[in-house]
Formats: sequence, C-alpha cells, structure tokens
Amino acid sequence: MRISLSVNNRSVESTVEPRTLLVDLIRDDLKLTGTKVGCDTGQCGTCTVLLDGRAVKSCSMLAVQAEGTRVTTIEGANAETGLTDLQEALWAEHGVQCGYCTPGMVLALQDLLATNKAPTEQEIRCGLAGNLCRCTGYQSVVRATLALTGQNGGRNDV
Ligand code: FES
Ligand code: FES
Repeated sequence: MRISLSVNNRSVESTVEPRTLLVDLIRDDLKLTGTKVGCDTGQCGTCTVLLDGRAVKSCSMLAVQAEGTRVTTIEGANAETGLTDLQEALWAEHGVQCGYCTPGMVLALQDLLATNKAPTEQEIRCGLAGNLCRCTGYQSVVRATLALTGQNGGRNDV
C-alpha cells in the first residue's frame, strides 16, 4: 500500500505491507533509529513518537494508520540550536542513564507539557505511566521536569 505522511516536517511517501508497523516504517525504511524497540507489545514506551502532537506507541500502530498524519520522532524533537530545554533539564538532573528509554520519555513529556505547562509531580508520573525505565528509578526524570517548569527548583526529594 502506498502511504503519504509527514515525518519530522518532511513529506514522506512509502510503500508498505498492510501489516507493517509504524515503528518498522520509522526505523527500517526511514532509518530514524532514535525510536527504540523494547517490548514490541505496547508496554514499555521506548517506541513512543508524536502523531499529530500526541504521544503514541509506534509498535502498536500500523504504518497505514499514520496516512496523512504528522509524525515527530526524537530526531525531529531537537531545537535548531541543539538540545531543547526539556532535554537540557534531563541532562542536568541526571534523568538519562543508559538512554534507551529516553527518546520515548522525551516525547511523552513533550506531549504532557504541550497541554500542561506546570504539571504536578503526580501528573508527571501519570504522564510517564506508559514509559518504563530500568535505570533512573524515575526520580531524576520527575525532578528534571519539575525543574524545567520552575517547581521545587527541581531539587527537593520527589
Ligand atoms: S516497543 Fe513499543 S511499547 Fe515497547
Ligand atoms: S535510562 Fe536506562 S532505561 Fe531509562
């Protein structure tokens, strides 16, 4: 099947099998390997991308379902000058360790922050409920998000 979509503000046309997953289109066809595969069953969130601005798990969608949409992967989530403020905050607060979950975390947080400029700790944890991390224990990710939004100076125990 022939599909057309926008990926990181670039028009993309591709021919896919009806069963091709969105994550496979992104990683295998478009070579955007910042999007990771962890569980392949919709549980870990490492494959999270933005679809029309909302976080989705790209292992749980068919590529054909993305027809006509605007997809943003981590490669398209950078500021023109480098890291975004969110990425800088994660870096500063040690919210990144092995980094495998980080692309999905960043995009899930971008989705949250797009509609809630000052999420509470609870709201941040809920926003990340679909993203598993085996390294950070989530504390530093939550702290970074609070710091970014000017809450708690990001330094209190959360
Ligand atoms: S690889 Fe998609 S949720 Fe785990
Ligand atoms: S930083 Fe290693 S899984 Fe999250």
